[in-house]
Amino acid sequence: MAPASSFPIKVGHIHDVQELMQANEPHVPERFIRNKVETQASATTASNIPVVDLSKLLNGDETEFQSEMLKLSASCEEWGFFQVINHGIDEEVLSDIEKVAMEFFMLPAEEKRKRPIAPGMIQGYGQAFVFSEEQKLDWCNMLALAIEPFSFRDLSLWPIYPPTFSESLENYSREINKLCQSLLRFIAMTLSLNKNVFEEIFGEAVQAVRMNYYPPCPRPDDVNGLSPHSDGSGLTVLLQRKGSSAGLQILNNDTWVSVDPIPNALIINIGDTLEVLTNGKYKSVEHRAITHKEKDRLSIVSFYAPSYDKEIGPMPEMVDENNHANYKIYSQGEYSKHYVTNKLQGKKTLDFAKIHP
Ligand code: OGA
Ligand code: NI
Repeated sequence: MAPASSFPIKVGHIHDVQELMQANEPHVPERFIRNKVETQASATTASNIPVVDLSKLLNGDETEFQSEMLKLSASCEEWGFFQVINHGIDEEVLSDIEKVAMEFFMLPAEEKRKRPIAPGMIQGYGQAFVFSEEQKLDWCNMLALAIEPFSFRDLSLWPIYPPTFSESLENYSREINKLCQSLLRFIAMTLSLNKNVFEEIFGEAVQAVRMNYYPPCPRPDDVNGLSPHSDGSGLTVLLQRKGSSAGLQILNNDTWVSVDPIPNALIINIGDTLEVLTNGKYKSVEHRAITHKEKDRLSIVSFYAPSYDKEIGPMPEMVDENNHANYKIYSQGEYSKHYVTNKLQGKKTLDFAKIHP
């Protein structure tokens, strides 16, 4: 995640939501309060997003393979989201990253603030995507770090407490990297494309992680945990800490649907880049996080995207005289910069790439 421009911006005071909750009488400052339209709790089917069994794609017999492939393509086309089970990642790797992330967020605020997100940047601790004093804030603390390529790492921002943090993050990220490559091969096959097509397009892929910690909130119906947005990535992988409150919601047919993770499953979603590459056949779906009055929540979100020097646009196989290109050609680095220098606002960032926004 290359640094965005360092233009001078005034973001005002950004409260640390954990500190607010540690006060004698926790209160929610005005800057977090949204109007009803923005938080509408209209949601609410806990109807579950599709579940894809990776072991059936990797080792299943022909019938299992075909039926799982159908599920995968329907998930990508109709939901933009699915949970993946039997992904082969050791439970210990998952519980380990959950543990060190929690330990980090539980450190005193002064310790965490030694690695701040600078305004207009994306790596570090704090709140990202804040660009003006008027902008509302989300009820969330974040730690964002670039993982791959290695040269993007800003090791001065990597926590030194707990001492095993870096090792756990490396182990987890390596597994997520393999999972993304594997899923992209099967996603290519659902489109009847060469299974390595994404590997070639992505090149030396960019991988980043964002850990989101949502403390309980006294007024959960009046705030956003994380504002509605789509992800700028190719694919995103979300791990929700066991025992967390439900919090992730996705927009499906104009209704917010709560996602209830299966223990040890990972939640996958299609990012803007895959929408562009598939010329809109597979869409990045708007999602948000809500908070809970008593329970906290931790999510660990990995973003997997093409190398910044790659040119991105609809793949030639996805365009013909009946399906014109809906998106322009641009460099991934350009898009990434555009994404991190704009506030989270539904799918608005993708207008950058649309031919007729
Ligand atoms: C994200 C995201 C949702 C969550 O970090 O991009 O969508 O549940 N997080 O934390
Ligand atoms: Ni997201």
